[in-house]
Amino acid sequence: MNDMRLLERDVDAKDIKIAARKVQVYYADTHAIKDVDVDIEDKTVTAFIGPSGCGKSTFLRCLNRMNDTIDICRVEGDIRIDGEDIYDAKVDPVQLRAKVGMVFQKPNPFPKSIYDNIAYGPRIHGLARSKADLDDIVEKSLRRGAIWDEVKDRLHAPGTGLSGGQQQRLCIARAVATEPEVLLMDEPCSALDPIATSQVEELIDELRQEFSVVIVTHSMQQAARVSQKTAFFHLGNLVEYGETGQIFTTPQDPRTESYITGRIG
Ligand SMILES: Nc1ncnc2c1ncn2[C@@H]1O[C@H](COP(=O)(O)OP(=O)(O)OP(=O)(O)O)[C@@H](O)[C@H]1O
Ligand SMILES: [Mg+2]
Repeated sequence: MNDMRLLERDVDAKDIKIAARKVQVYYADTHAIKDVDVDIEDKTVTAFIGPSGCGKSTFLRCLNRMNDTIDICRVEGDIRIDGEDIYDAKVDPVQLRAKVGMVFQKPNPFPKSIYDNIAYGPRIHGLARSKADLDDIVEKSLRRGAIWDEVKDRLHAPGTGLSGGQQQRLCIARAVATEPEVLLMDEPCSALDPIATSQVEELIDELRQEFSVVIVTHSMQQAARVSQKTAFFHLGNLVEYGETGQIFTTPQDPRTESYITGRIG
C-alpha cells in the first residue's frame, strides 16, 4: 500500500526547471528580494501572489535577467535553469530571453504587421531556413496564441490595430515563436476584459503542456484557476510556496492567511 502511494507520487512529480537559491535583489540601497529559495517545476503553472511592492515583478525579472537592464539593480545568489547558472559570464542574456520568454502587463506589440511581430524573434535567432519555414512558424505561433483564426486574413495589417485582448494573445504568440522553455507573465490579464481574460487563461493552461509558466497575478481567483503551484511574497520574502489548493485552503503562515482572506494587501 505504501509502495503504491510512493509510485503514484512519482508519476505526479515534475522535473525542476528553475532552481533559485539565496537570491537577493537590491535597487541601490533598497533590499527588494531577501534570500529567496525556490524550485519551479517544469510543465507547471506557478503563480506569484502578494501585496503591491512585495517583489513579485522583481523576482520574475531575475529569471530572464531583465533586471540587468535596470542600472541601479543588483542581483545576488544562484539561479539555474536545467542546472545551468543563468548569471554565468558565458550566458548571453539575449539568447537567454529567447529561451525564457516574457509577457508584460500592458500588451506591447511592435509597430509592425501581425506577421512581422511574430517573425521578428525567429529571424534574429535564425530559426527559419526559408520563407516557407518562417510562414510555418508564424502560423504555428499564432495558433498556439489562440489568435490564428482572428488574424489569418490580415497578417500584414498592423499589430497595434487589434483589440487589447487580441494584442495580448499576439504578444503571447510572439513570446512562444522563439520556442522558449519558460514563459514569464507579469499580470498578463490586468488590461483585459473578462472574456479576453478567460481566453488567455485557457491558453495558459494549454501552454503548460509544453512550458514552465510563471504568472504574477493580483487576482486570487485567477491564481486558483490557472496555477498548480503558488508562491506568496511579502516585503521581499518568499513566505510560503506549495500546491495552489493547499495555499488557498490551509495556508501555513499567518501572513499568507491574512492576505488570502483580504486582511493585508
Ligand atoms: N526600477 C526600480 N527602481 C527602484 N526601485 C524599484 C524598481 N522596481 C521596483 N522597485 C522597488 O522594489 C520593491 C518591489 O517592487 P516590485 O515592482 O517587484 O513589486 P511587485 O510585487 O511587482 O508590486 P506590484 O504588485 O505593485 O506590481 C518595491 O519597493 C519597489 O519600489
Ligand atoms: Mg509588479
